[in-house]
Amino acid sequence: MTAKLIKGTEIREQILEEITAEVAEIKAKYGKVPGLVTILVGSNPASISYVTLKIQTAHRVGFKEVQDNQPPDISEAALLALIDKYNKDDSINGILVQLPLPKHIDEKKVLNAIDPDKDVDGFHPVNVGRLMIGGSEVKYPPCTPAGIQELIVRAGVETKGAEVVVVGRSNIVGKPIANMMVQKGPGANATVTIVHTGTRDLASHCKRADILIVAAGVPDLVKPEWIKPGACVIDVGVNRVGEKISEKTGKKVAILKGDVDFDRAKEIAGYITPVPGGVGPMTITMLMKNTLKSLKFGLGIA
Ligand code: GUN
Repeated sequence: MTAKLIKGTEIREQILEEITAEVAEIKAKYGKVPGLVTILVGSNPASISYVTLKIQTAHRVGFKEVQDNQPPDISEAALLALIDKYNKDDSINGILVQLPLPKHIDEKKVLNAIDPDKDVDGFHPVNVGRLMIGGSEVKYPPCTPAGIQELIVRAGVETKGAEVVVVGRSNIVGKPIANMMVQKGPGANATVTIVHTGTRDLASHCKRADILIVAAGVPDLVKPEWIKPGACVIDVGVNRVGEKISEKTGKKVAILKGDVDFDRAKEIAGYITPVPGGVGPMTITMLMKNTLKSLKFGLGIA
């Protein structure tokens, strides 16, 4: 193994400790804590487990947490009215509607109804625009890309002038992380290429990358020979490739694989994120950071 492992699980602990300390400080000074509402429609098992983790993390860092569970047949109008209620609630700084939503509800309409100043997911078009403009315009960078940037910076990887290649052009990861890395400023200022299913020669682009960010959702897509020796490889893929019995709990758990052939890539890369335990733990962490930021904007101290 030559690569340094970038452990999201460890970096998450550092950041959550920083957030906890800041929340306590603000509470002592202003008598306020960040308020986060998570709206869950229906009972999709994956959504329940994500939301449960969000609630637990919010409690851990000292937030006010409101869990609002709604039945799967809630009407679109009723959901929009609920969002309006939280938009007007001064004790709520962040509103998160867990996705996906049932088919009878227009997801876009719902996300667009969230006050952009409480949109801690960073999915509202106003926040997408703010991210594109960059600098002090940015309020809430979307959580997974923000986590990726944090991992790169905290690992001590130089981004200024670096060749960054992003594999995948999703609205949630590929496009926003490319946008963030191209901005002028710390943790960015890179030369960015996005490659995707329409790219003619994926390998040749990846081979140039000083920082390779892979968010394609295809297990083992990136081969070790595509990696520049010493490069920083960020694997966003979480692909379920089977099931096994957990040694810890004795229960059936998913076998997860990233988009990069980790076992061979780690012999060539300079830095690499594992799956699981790399990018994954960062998403909820950055949600907490955005919610704290929202309270700070409200208090005029951000
Ligand atoms: N569903 C899966 N990931 C996410 C996320 O980051 N935010 C929301 N709102 N829903 C999700």
